[in-house]
Amino acid sequence: MLRYFLIISILLSLQLSAEEGKSTLLSQNDSPPQRIEFLTQREYGKALYSNPRGIGCIQCHGQDGNGGIIGYTKQKGKQKPILAPKITNIKFIRFENALKNGKGFMPKYNLSASEMVALYSYLNPNQIKSK
Ligand code: HEC
Repeated sequence: MLRYFLIISILLSLQLSAEEGKSTLLSQNDSPPQRIEFLTQREYGKALYSNPRGIGCIQCHGQDGNGGIIGYTKQKGKQKPILAPKITNIKFIRFENALKNGKGFMPKYNLSASEMVALYSYLNPNQIKSK
């Protein structure tokens, strides 16, 4: 019985210290890391463009999303280029679909909505997100 009581009190104190841990974390989150504050969404999008947690878009779609040849296939004895298209002037819904599902040689990505919007705003500086 005493043993049982001991276990309960240990569990209770563990829970209490976990709660304390949470509150210090929360108060740290009140002031976000300095770096984020002066990264604009486009700058964030640009960083993601080279490093989107996966192979960089830049590797296939080139500088600023202008597209390029990423390889060649042979068809009926003829070399045929594999193109990564220009991705700077397309509708957001189309952009999002390609990222979520992949397309042809392009892998799919597991990006959050805000990451996709940041990427899109980097590639379409003059266009507001239009569906
Ligand atoms: C391995 C090369 C590769 C990488 C890496 C890659 N793509 Fe692609 N992407 C392609 C190819 C090839 C296509 C064309 C697919 C097709 O139409 O068959 C494509 C298509 C797209 C499309 C659709 C264009 C349209 O007109 O429908 C978008 C948008 C796109 N890519 C954005 C991105 C973004 C953003 C990233 C980075 C997060 C990325 N891609 C990474 C190769 C790549």
